[in-house]
Parts: sequence; C-alpha cells; structure tokens
Amino acid sequence: MLKISPSILAADFCNLERDIGQIASADMVHVDVMDGAFVPNITIGVPVVKSIRRHTDLFLDVHLMIEKPVRFIDAFCDAGADLLSVHLEADHPTGIEAALRRMEARGVKRAIALRPITDPRAVIPYLDHIDMVLVMTVEPGFGGQKFMESQLDTVRRVREYIERYNPACDLEVDGGVDSATAKLVVEAGANVLVAGSAVYGAADPAAAIAALRAANQK
Ligand code: DX5
Ligand code: ZN
Repeated sequence: MLKISPSILAADFCNLERDIGQIASADMVHVDVMDGAFVPNITIGVPVVKSIRRHTDLFLDVHLMIEKPVRFIDAFCDAGADLLSVHLEADHPTGIEAALRRMEARGVKRAIALRPITDPRAVIPYLDHIDMVLVMTVEPGFGGQKFMESQLDTVRRVREYIERYNPACDLEVDGGVDSATAKLVVEAGANVLVAGSAVYGAADPAAAIAALRAANQK
C-alpha cells in the first residue's frame, strides 16, 4: 500500500495545528529535524515534536538530519515519535548501530536514511533490523528543491535489496516529490512518499494528497 507523509517543513509554523488538521487523509506526518551541522539549516526540535504529539494521532515520521543521532533517540521517543530515521552519513557505523539498538529498546520504528551521494549498497548490513529505508531525492537541508532523477536508480536498487533481504521493509522517498515525480518513484519501487511543497503549496492539501495517491494507479 502506498503511504503519504506530508512534510510540515512547508507548513506555517504559527498555525501547525491547523495545517496538520489539513492532512488528516495522510498516513503519516513527516517532521524534518535539522541541526545546522549535518545540514546547513536549523528547523524543528524535541519540544515541537512533543507539542505536535498532543494534537494529532497521525503516525509521526521523524527525519533526523543531525550529527551523532544516538544522543537524541531517547528525547525524540519521549516526545512521541513513532518512527525515527537516522542518516548513515551522520556517524561512524558503531554510532549508527548504537542508535538502532536504542530505538529497538524504546520500541520505536527504525529507518536508515541515505544522502544522494551514498552508495545504496551501504544499507545492506542494516536491512535485517530496520523498518524503512529513506532515499533522499534532493540534498537534505531545504524544502522546495528540484527532484533528482538520478536517484531513481538508487530507489530501484534499494527495492531489489529489500525484496532480497527484508520484504516487509518500507521504502520512503523524500525531496521534490509531486504528482508527476511520484509516478516515477513508485514505478522504481518506493511505497512511502514524503511531500512538502506539493501538499502545503497546493490550494487544497487534501486534493494534493489524493493526487499523490493516484501515482499508484498504473
Ligand atoms: C529536505 C527534507 C524534506 C523536505 C521535502 O531536507 O528532508 O523532507 O521537507 O520538501 P519538498 O517536498 O518541498 O521537496
Ligand atoms: Zn525529510
């Protein structure tokens, strides 16, 4: 089943409750956490996730674009995240493994995220014990960027590895996804779509979510 995860990075932060209310037909809320070090931007932190949790029952898909994410796993779990994505490039393998172990101990869903530069084979050693792979289709850091078609090959390869090693694992794509590029990523094997501008830049966010879902119809 195709799942839609609108990114609130494109919402109005003074009206988050209203804007999250507009995406009730989505499957998740995508929350972009940036630390100004792993990526050249600073966005949302733990207290905001905690407030969002109090106002929605939607699944909270929290994308950590922070260095050494193991330091913040407990804080985001306490805040109410349902899934945490950690970037493979954000720490040494031992740090990433420690973060995944901490997530397992806390019972939160686990995802590995890949920057466009990262070889898709890098996910193979983790596939056994994660719930999702997040493939970036822009350089992480900002919403509203152009979709990188060159990442379609990465999506296809990650889908092959998932089918081989852990077919239950989800494959999420993030960056420049709209109703046109959604079709391409779904064909390449993605089943979870993040969309910021395509949902919140639209006059009717619910209609934009429906248009993304239509990408699934062959
Ligand atoms: C970028 C973030 C994305 C971003 C997507 O670093 O990870 O989630 O919000 O925004 P759009 O859909 O506008 O490309
Ligand atoms: Zn994101």
